[in-house]
Amino acid sequence: MAFDPKLQRQVMGRFATGVVVVTTCVGEQFSGMTANAVMSLSLDPPLVVVSVDKSASMHGLLQEGQCFAINVLRLDQEELSNRFAQRGPKDFSDLSIKTAETGAPILVDALAYLDCRLVEITAAGDHDMFIGECLGGETGDGAPLIFFGGRYGELTEESVQGAS
Ligand SMILES: Cc1cc2nc3c(=O)[nH]c(=O)nc-3n(C[C@H](O)[C@H](O)[C@H](O)COP(=O)(O)O)c2cc1C
Repeated sequence: MAFDPKLQRQVMGRFATGVVVVTTCVGEQFSGMTANAVMSLSLDPPLVVVSVDKSASMHGLLQEGQCFAINVLRLDQEELSNRFAQRGPKDFSDLSIKTAETGAPILVDALAYLDCRLVEITAAGDHDMFIGECLGGETGDGAPLIFFGGRYGELTEESVQGAS
């Protein structure tokens, strides 16, 4: 019997993750998408990967922009996660934004960010893996937004304290 992708969703849903907004810039136009299929891939060279659905607008925009920023969301940024999970153009007008080397928009209030140059796109079924070389980044203190079992969650206060 064929493997049921619902089971894959359920099992991987038990794999608790943070939530990021992946952003890019095409000309003057900012775009972004909520994601959790994000991974640190290599430290030398410094590479990260984001898995992007081929049907997402972000798929084409990342290829055009040739860069992306990974913005790690804070616990109180659930609204941003929902906003950037909607299909189509996203509203950045009320957000504090800065840019770094690549020009991809960085959400100033995020918990941490990486600024990346797109170096490779690898096919992966109905998604493609966008591999970025990290050119810069910053971290802040605070609690991350967590995604678990199809819902948002949070870490205990003790587990957040002392994070390096
Ligand atoms: C918590 C969460 C994680 C998500 N992770 C991913 C992901 O890793 N890759 C992906 O392609 N879509 C992911 N999505 C779905 C996209 O955010 C959603 O399809 C979005 O509407 C795409 O927007 P676009 O079509 O305008 O690019 C996620 C959504 C949520 C709520």
